[in-house]
Amino acid sequence: MVNRIIAVINQKGGTGKTTLALNLSAGLALRGSTHLVDADPQRSITQWVGMGGGHSGLPQVAQLDDNPVAMLTELTHSYRYVVVDCPPTAQGEAVAAIMRVVHLALIPVLPSPIDLWASVDMAVAVKEARQNNPELRACLVLNQMESRNALSRDMREAVAEFDMPVLVAGMQRRAAYRSAAVEGRSVYGVGKRGQQAVADIEAIIEEVLCL
Ligand SMILES: Nc1ncnc2c1ncn2[C@@H]1O[C@H](COP(=O)(O)OP(=O)(O)O)[C@@H](O)[C@H]1O
Ligand SMILES: [Mg+2]
Repeated sequence: MVNRIIAVINQKGGTGKTTLALNLSAGLALRGSTHLVDADPQRSITQWVGMGGGHSGLPQVAQLDDNPVAMLTELTHSYRYVVVDCPPTAQGEAVAAIMRVVHLALIPVLPSPIDLWASVDMAVAVKEARQNNPELRACLVLNQMESRNALSRDMREAVAEFDMPVLVAGMQRRAAYRSAAVEGRSVYGVGKRGQQAVADIEAIIEEVLCL
């Protein structure tokens, strides 16, 4: 089944939620109609897309309203993919509502055991959400990796303890993610500079669409 509502979520800030949500949505938009939802009160996605001045080639963005279940369900009637950039919390009504309707939760984590353990509440939140949404899938996505094989033994052990699948594909640390953000674009929109980052995102999408 195609995962139609994808939430990018982690209670910790700075792990790459907004970066993944935005670039994932840009890549999905090449495959089918895609809508972004900004659920973070900090409004990073909205600002990011605003910087592109409407010429960024990015999907449409809406801010989450006070009825997330209705809003997200409604969007799936018109769009093939809906990507939600979540606030840095595992609690609260908005996140609970999002988790009730979402098909897939992607949890970006930095490749250090300390950062991974800081995300342990996410595993609990996913378990709770499955009581209402038994089909919910959740995967960790490693971000800011230094190389394909940089996963330390510690990290591998920590991931195994975490009891949640981790995508084979991840985002490496690349200047293009930052420079594209500064320009209000996705890595798809910055030409050759973004090529390797695009390859990261394409691999993530291919993996996610096969789940
Ligand atoms: N793979 C990456 N390579 C380089 N910089 C990155 C990468 N992922 C995220 N960043 C940068 O790290 C910072 C935090 O990322 P962000 O997506 O805003 O995290 P979050 O939304 O979880 O708070 C931003 O400045 C972003 O540009
Ligand atoms: Mg963010």
